[in-house]
Amino acid sequence: MNSEKPNSKRKLRSAEWFGIDGKHGFVPRSWMRSQGFSERLLDGRPVIGICNTWSELTNCNRNLRELAEHVKRGVLMAGGFPLEFPVTSLGEPFMRPTTMMFRNLLSMDVEETLRANPIDGVVLLAGCDKTTPALLMGAASCDLPTILVSSGPMLNGKFRGRQLGSGTDVFRLDDEYRTGKLSKKDLGEAEAAMSRSAGTCMTMGTASTMALIAEAMGVALPMNGSIPAPDSRRAVLAEMSGSRIVELVQQGVDLSQILTRGAFENAVKVNGAIGGSTNAVLHLLALAGRLGIEFSLDDWHELGRDVPCIVDLKPSGRFLMEDFFEAGGLPVVMERISEMLDLNATAIEGGTIGERISDAVGYDDEVIRPRDNPLTEQGGIIVLRGNLAPDGAIIKPSAASPELMKHRGKAVVFESAADLRERIDHPDLDVDKNSILVLKNSGPQGYPGMPEVGSMALPAKLLKQGVTDLVRISDARMSGTAFGTVVLHVAPESAIGGPLALVQNGDFITIDTDAQRLELEVDEAELAKRRTAFIPPQPAHSRGYGLLYTEHVQQADKGADFDFLVGKSGTPPSKVSF
Ligand code: FES
Repeated sequence: MNSEKPNSKRKLRSAEWFGIDGKHGFVPRSWMRSQGFSERLLDGRPVIGICNTWSELTNCNRNLRELAEHVKRGVLMAGGFPLEFPVTSLGEPFMRPTTMMFRNLLSMDVEETLRANPIDGVVLLAGCDKTTPALLMGAASCDLPTILVSSGPMLNGKFRGRQLGSGTDVFRLDDEYRTGKLSKKDLGEAEAAMSRSAGTCMTMGTASTMALIAEAMGVALPMNGSIPAPDSRRAVLAEMSGSRIVELVQQGVDLSQILTRGAFENAVKVNGAIGGSTNAVLHLLALAGRLGIEFSLDDWHELGRDVPCIVDLKPSGRFLMEDFFEAGGLPVVMERISEMLDLNATAIEGGTIGERISDAVGYDDEVIRPRDNPLTEQGGIIVLRGNLAPDGAIIKPSAASPELMKHRGKAVVFESAADLRERIDHPDLDVDKNSILVLKNSGPQGYPGMPEVGSMALPAKLLKQGVTDLVRISDARMSGTAFGTVVLHVAPESAIGGPLALVQNGDFITIDTDAQRLELEVDEAELAKRRTAFIPPQPAHSRGYGLLYTEHVQQADKGADFDFLVGKSGTPPSKVSF
């Protein structure tokens, strides 16, 4: 086997398996040939892993098996040898307590599978929310040539003449149902009309955000984030990605050469311009940690604060991902904020991000707005600090009510997500339109995995009065499809004794987004008394992965990655074991 292909810059990893004489080469070659692969495929060409999160338990990724075939065709066309393998899949609608608890597990699955096998480069097939960051994190820890292909957004939901956006309209429909405006039968019809094709949520939720961020960072081909899942052009993109990964292996372009500090800065700015999900904050902090890139929560504020949101998609705006694709997709957005971007960042297809977007043409200025007519002036993430969040908390201004961005109100405290569910609609709940809802014990350790309960449903009695938003504060996350004046990711979290644990009903809290402040108006002597009386909740797990998670997960301001996964180890082939 010739492991030095003519245009290859370095020795292939796979040669350590298939290129060895004697029994150490005989075994991998022979067992590979048992699958019907010819000797020709083992002649020293790059072996491309196709890392697939397809699962019938992850409906959003159900087209990835088909897309894997298109990737394989592209790999073969370019002279590579494609090998598809499964990894854990994370389906947002089903997994309990929350997929976020398993993001780090999936990343470990990817990392160890890549390192243990004869793989020279990898195509990551992702879709549902956590699958994209988990695959990128695992691949980053290995640092092979890598390209990402997303399953793509599903077709727009349509119900009785109105557009239904995944997630976002569930919250609205639920409010209508709880207040008697919608019957059970109506709700059932809406259920069938919302999700009508393969693909991810078609709002600007976490899946769309992360697919677009991957595109913005240059690790996916142009239009990866927006081509609808059933559109034949997605299959073409998969085929092109398959061919391109072979070239990346031949040229020796590792993932860390694409995911540079400039790529992270572009990601933060693009997240602001698209009105992206708050979950992206956690995922990019964790991803940067794997690569050893200096990138902090404050970077989110400094880099993203003044980026206008120019994409009019739900939950912040009106339209859906199919409309975004037809309007020209992400290259148009990036071209419209191009003076804010690092245009010299590398694009996976070769060349720079600047070259990628130079000829972008917008086709609908209502969906992707011009710079001088943004949806909101501040599209990014605002980082808040103060005695209630010494290590930070975040708010998404484009999803918030402007009149509540500076507010003082009395706390209505819920001790847990279960307590919230039980009492939020109780007629005796002492709450009014100026109240601030506070939810505890929903952080990385408190509810292992930080559930998306931060956008607490409003009390039914206030909904009936016409109240549409309240300030809500928690150490939880919020679905990318949710909206409201919601302060999230408070760190340190309440379960480990962060100041959030000390809040009591009736305490006054002040939020001021201009001043970046989040203050609990209780004097230090009283707080010290409460701190002494604090009893941490019992750990949720006593064994297994749950125990590993609670013992090693870092706080939200560090991306909730495991402390022992920070940094990378590369992919030196391990010793032969027979
Ligand atoms: Fe999978 Fe929204 S539930 S992308």
